[in-house]
Amino acid sequence: MKDELEKLVVDLTAALSSVHDTAALEVVRVEYVGRKGRLAELMKGLAALSVDEKKVIGQIANSVKARVEAEFARVEKMIADADVKARMTREWLDVTLPGAAPSVGHLHLVSQAIEDITDIFRRLGFVRARHPEIDGDYYAFEALNMPKDHPARDEWETFFIRDSHSAEVMQGQKGKMVLTPHTSNGQVREMEKGVLPIRMISIGKCYRRQSTARHSPMFHQFEGLVIDKKSSVTELKGVCEYFAKSYFGADRTTRLRPYHFRFTEPSFELDISCGICKGVGSVGGVKCKLCKEGWLELGGAGMVHPNVIKAGGLDPDVYAGFAFGWGVERTMMMRAGVNIDDIRILYRNDLRFIRQF
Ligand code: PHE
Repeated sequence: MKDELEKLVVDLTAALSSVHDTAALEVVRVEYVGRKGRLAELMKGLAALSVDEKKVIGQIANSVKARVEAEFARVEKMIADADVKARMTREWLDVTLPGAAPSVGHLHLVSQAIEDITDIFRRLGFVRARHPEIDGDYYAFEALNMPKDHPARDEWETFFIRDSHSAEVMQGQKGKMVLTPHTSNGQVREMEKGVLPIRMISIGKCYRRQSTARHSPMFHQFEGLVIDKKSSVTELKGVCEYFAKSYFGADRTTRLRPYHFRFTEPSFELDISCGICKGVGSVGGVKCKLCKEGWLELGGAGMVHPNVIKAGGLDPDVYAGFAFGWGVERTMMMRAGVNIDDIRILYRNDLRFIRQF
């Protein structure tokens, strides 16, 4: 029996050597010191011994029990220590590490274009101005030499604000309220300010009732207006040329093509030489896929009509000037390296697209 008690301690030490967590420890505990465990079984044998033997074996049994308890206590502490150590590694925090930077966005492609465009005209002395996006049709049409019911108005597929709304929201405004279909409403508004000479670049949102790959119902225009005592088509042409070369590259040129607007006379469309075929219209004998004829249309321009100058409160015999109005999106999409074939993607708020620019 003495040997069996000694063996129990040896076995227990061996069994505990592979124990690393509380669950495994409990299994060993049940096996050795549980109610039906090995120690309990051995102790049953005590009953059959003589009084003297009981004395000796009883003593040994007591010391064995103490050693068994000590073994369990040792392993318990080992497990607890290991737990603390693991937690310390897991939850370790380096307070000296720099913080995680929040992700920073960037300007939308169109806002970038607006900044670039503003910058170029600023160098020529143009000052950025802002005019209402919702305006009376007086400024959008009438003051621009398009009287009420004039058919030319049809060319701007205009959104009208319901009378009941405009009456209360826009008291004192002139005419029916519209979402400005072009930034030209700023022309007469700028003249009305009475600060001369005028070199304005007004960039804002415009709205037209159309939605195609080339038209978004909301888009931006940049409107240039120069009013001074002397002004000429040559100056207009020079400004166009400077802008084209600065924005698109030194190898590009412009041409003015006769056109008609009610608010300019003479009127032009400004074309820019195609960046693919360099204005030739063909590449290696094959018709240019982008422009087909060497030129791309940028937008309208012209010498401000005397009636518009009058509407601005100025004397057309003293003052003259020129104006132009081009689409921001279209201009930006014509720039080399921007391969966008549907203008509407600009306003779908798809980050996979926006992040590319
Ligand atoms: N407002 C015109 C348009 O939207 C463009 C334009 C502006 C033409 C200024 C001449 C002068 O088409």
